Amino acid sequence: MYSTTKSKELFESGQKSLVRGLCSDIHKGAWQEYPVYMSYGKGSKCYDVDGNSYIDYLLAFGPMILGYAPEAVSKAVKEQIDKASLLAAPTEDMVALCNKLCEIIPSAEKVSVLLNSGSEADVHAVRLARAYTGKTRIVKFEGHYHGWMDELKVSNEALKESLLGPRNNPWKLRHANGQVEPIHVITAPYNDLNYLETLFKRRSNEIAGVILEPIMCNAEPVFPRKGFLEGLRELTLKYDIALIFDEVITGFRTALGGAQEYFGVTPDISTFAKAIAGGYPLSAVVGREEVVSAGNLSAGTFNGNSLCVAAALATIGELEKPGVYEELERKSQSMADGLIKLGKKHGLQITSQAAGGIWSMVFGTEEALVDYRDHFGKVDKAMYQRVAEACMERGVRLNPWRGRLYMSTAHTDKDIRCTLDVLDDIFSQL
Ligand SMILES: Cc1ncc(COP(=O)(O)O)c(C=O)c1O
Repeated sequence: MYSTTKSKELFESGQKSLVRGLCSDIHKGAWQEYPVYMSYGKGSKCYDVDGNSYIDYLLAFGPMILGYAPEAVSKAVKEQIDKASLLAAPTEDMVALCNKLCEIIPSAEKVSVLLNSGSEADVHAVRLARAYTGKTRIVKFEGHYHGWMDELKVSNEALKESLLGPRNNPWKLRHANGQVEPIHVITAPYNDLNYLETLFKRRSNEIAGVILEPIMCNAEPVFPRKGFLEGLRELTLKYDIALIFDEVITGFRTALGGAQEYFGVTPDISTFAKAIAGGYPLSAVVGREEVVSAGNLSAGTFNGNSLCVAAALATIGELEKPGVYEELERKSQSMADGLIKLGKKHGLQITSQAAGGIWSMVFGTEEALVDYRDHFGKVDKAMYQRVAEACMERGVRLNPWRGRLYMSTAHTDKDIRCTLDVLDDIFSQL
């Protein structure tokens, strides 16, 4: 009998000292009265405080590309702990990591800086675009998430479509109490080159950069239309606008060189975080030398700290072994294929796509989504959340918000078969 009594008690106790009982609002799913408190993880599984185990496809929202507590990373970090976690000086390992990033990431002629989170990296990337072009406005797409900082957390978690304004002149939806107006940001629909060409024709003298998730992962995943990334690259070159790939999710997850390698499109600036260090907080901003050399950010107490650099070197060491990404893609694809088969078997409308270690589970449509606004008419989010809840009770942990799911190198074919059996059982009872 599935029980989470201890989690419930901890939530009650935690709320006495911590606002809402959470350090991140996404740690409690939309359907949950209280979050499940986790105790530890190993490989493809995590274990909660009540002793339940879960095959995990959340993977801590992305970083655990090698699964939980991967030996190579834990060993490197333990060795580094005995030497020093932080030295406030450049180190030999930092040089090795930056050289490695330039070797494996197509756009990385130079690393601009190593930071601690994706949010910081995106703020810095946007600054670089401004420093390089001498312009100020930044175009961001509806539904895309670039961290929680004031200027960039715009129009990505709308409760209803009307809050986004008209599609041909979208508003800038803010999310947090106290968030200032993002005056330098322009929002646009994703996957629409005609819209962008018209916008750039009118306003390219103000636009410093375009930032995007090459695969929009922060809603039900939306893949770029064929030719969209290539077309965007051409347009940004034509109008002297810096192209910024936010590879915080896609980096080290779709391919060793990120989505830019996967899709064969090279941006001017890109940001990496999450999977880069296998579960330790490190981010990197990289790009064309001329562009990334235009900025001068040089502060940050924990920038390039020795523990996270050691973790990143060990993670990349594992990821660059032959066949890793083929195997990740094969496993993600078998989840996607299995889901589509189950949809047919149970008469459910399901879309599922895969790229490297990312796969999706979207209810309510059998067509791939094109932009953020599709979510409001087409996607059955409530169904997804019912399925996620039922999965938890049967020992499978999905993203508690939306059908963006991950695969790690630690997942086995047995995990996948077992997960598809669980879904089969749940679908038969819906
Ligand atoms: C695409 C993308 N960019 C930026 C961020 C922000 O990264 P962090 O949470 O490390 O600040 C996230 C986080 O989920 C993300 O998914």
